[in-house]
Amino acid sequence: MRKFYCLFLAVFLAVAGAEALLPEPLPQPRTSGGEGIFTLLEKRASGTRDAFPTGAVSDQELATILWAATGRNRNGSGWTVPVGMGRPPHVKVYVVKNDGAFIYDWQKHALGELTKKNIKAEVTQDDFVKNSAVILVFVADTAANKRAEMDNILVGAMSQNVYLAADALGIKTRYLMTLKADGIRRELKLNKTDVPLCIMPLGK
Ligand SMILES: Cc1cc2nc3c(=O)[nH]c(=O)nc-3n(C[C@H](O)[C@H](O)[C@H](O)COP(=O)(O)O)c2cc1C
Repeated sequence: MRKFYCLFLAVFLAVAGAEALLPEPLPQPRTSGGEGIFTLLEKRASGTRDAFPTGAVSDQELATILWAATGRNRNGSGWTVPVGMGRPPHVKVYVVKNDGAFIYDWQKHALGELTKKNIKAEVTQDDFVKNSAVILVFVADTAANKRAEMDNILVGAMSQNVYLAADALGIKTRYLMTLKADGIRRELKLNKTDVPLCIMPLGK
């Protein structure tokens, strides 16, 4: 009887543990309306280093910005960004917040938790980035794609989508190539073949 109880407990803990690792679904992104694209292009600007906003970004806003960066569109047949040679996106997006760090799963439109720690100081040396609500970290998966120029073209399109979607939501962002690569590799548990490319803080 005791053996049976132990077995039951082990199975229960294994199932509960596996569930904790499941990606957390994000709210549905906003996919229509908003300010016109030409208006957004005309006023697009980066948040400044000396007055970057520190206000919170809601889950719904974050979900929309992540979707704009690399989400599925056209009823799931394409992406919001052009990706070469019919490949899935080979630049990964990570989300760093005070309550932890996550990887964006574009297939499930969900966040997979990597740590519950606040790792902002391991990601950036810039105080205005540390003080922002969310830091997006873009990482090239060079195992999935061996041509660096394709990663750079992709992250250019992704980051411009982030600028435009953020602006439409009244959120400021800024493209930075200054980052702490070693800290990012360690804290986000990157593979040897992953290359951090840039970070983008978000704040309202
Ligand atoms: C490739 C690239 C790397 C950049 N790296 C940084 C950076 O590390 N730190 C920073 O404060 N701004 C950086 N910037 C500048 C800002 O992202 C921003 O584009 C610039 O200040 C121009 O402002 P605007 O977007 O309002 O026109 C970088 C820009 C580019 C294109």
